[in-house]
Amino acid sequence: MERFFCSNCSRFYPLHPSRWRCDCGSFLDLEFESEFSIKKILKRGPTLWRYRETIPIHKETPILSMNEGFTPLEEIEFNGNRTLIKMDYLFPTGSYKDRGATVLISKMKEWGVQKVVEDSSGNAGSAVAAYCAKAGIKCEIYVPQYTSSEKTVQIQAYGATLKKVQGSRERTAEVATEAASKIPYASHCWNPFFLHGTKTFAFEVWEQMGWKAPDALVLPVGHGTLFLGVYMGFRELKEAGMIKKIPKLVGIQSAFCAPLYQAFKKGWRETRPIEKGETVAEGIAISEPVRGRQILEATRETGGEILVVTEKEIRMALKEAGRKGHFIEPTSAATIAGLKKYLDKKRRRETVVSTFTGTGLKSVGKML
Ligand SMILES: Cc1ncc(COP(=O)(O)O)c(C=O)c1O
Ligand SMILES: [Zn+2]
Repeated sequence: MERFFCSNCSRFYPLHPSRWRCDCGSFLDLEFESEFSIKKILKRGPTLWRYRETIPIHKETPILSMNEGFTPLEEIEFNGNRTLIKMDYLFPTGSYKDRGATVLISKMKEWGVQKVVEDSSGNAGSAVAAYCAKAGIKCEIYVPQYTSSEKTVQIQAYGATLKKVQGSRERTAEVATEAASKIPYASHCWNPFFLHGTKTFAFEVWEQMGWKAPDALVLPVGHGTLFLGVYMGFRELKEAGMIKKIPKLVGIQSAFCAPLYQAFKKGWRETRPIEKGETVAEGIAISEPVRGRQILEATRETGGEILVVTEKEIRMALKEAGRKGHFIEPTSAATIAGLKKYLDKKRRRETVVSTFTGTGLKSVGKML
């Protein structure tokens, strides 16, 4: 029987669309056991749903899929090192957030939900709006006033109601959570079903590397929905005896908004308030990550680390990716700037995987 559980106070809750956090205020996780059958995986099409037995959606549910996932893993050289880059900007809505949205909105459909709210820096909102359009579920998407117009236009194109909030990303979340007292909250950071979608990144890498795990992965961390999904995915693979070791997880933040970097360096269990500056990497400009404690635990447990990158380094990485044939958004370039930093200090023989998380077409105005 699947249940929500709180790792902070050890309480359990039955699954329900309105239950999005614990009564103690902490985020919730999902109790669920994945199964892996390479034979079954190989019989299915090249989408993230080929790992069907690992996704907590019941068989009878119509799955809301646009054949997303199984993105290419391309070999690209950075700083003279061979790296493997997962092309997650090639999703239907232009960012990796579709991994989480296809699973979370399928669950909302299974629950019979008719309307949801979500808040986002833009990309998760676009992904949730797209899958809601497919599901016939109404949705309200809250974004900060300063969000790139490419993302707000996209959200509206899917028929969602766009709510622009004056003030910070954190203020946007506050306004959305007020709405979530009446309408189910399809939150990518709070709802664990989202992570059960983003974890497929790990399964794809494992399969594409010949059923092996890399030594390290360099990933963005704002709320850490990819980072934590990847951690969960490799942990499940290890528990199932499919890999020996969970790879090192290296998280990248902007130097102007680095609460996890600060907490990691100081050895804190949780993040603490920081002073946030303005960064072009809008997708990772999160000063209060909902699952900060979990991100720090995953980083430490895997022997990983958190690195920060400057605005100049982000701009240089954006240019370099373009010159290698990949038009990505500045948030994704921040990860690549971090990858370059990591490559300069890693051990020589390590295999390192990273990703392009979002398309450059999302931020043309900003780049201009
Ligand atoms: C393109 C892109 N990359 C990375 C991230 C970071 O994701 P998270 O906040 O879940 O760590 C985001 C978040 O919006 C994003 O839009
Ligand atoms: Zn609790």
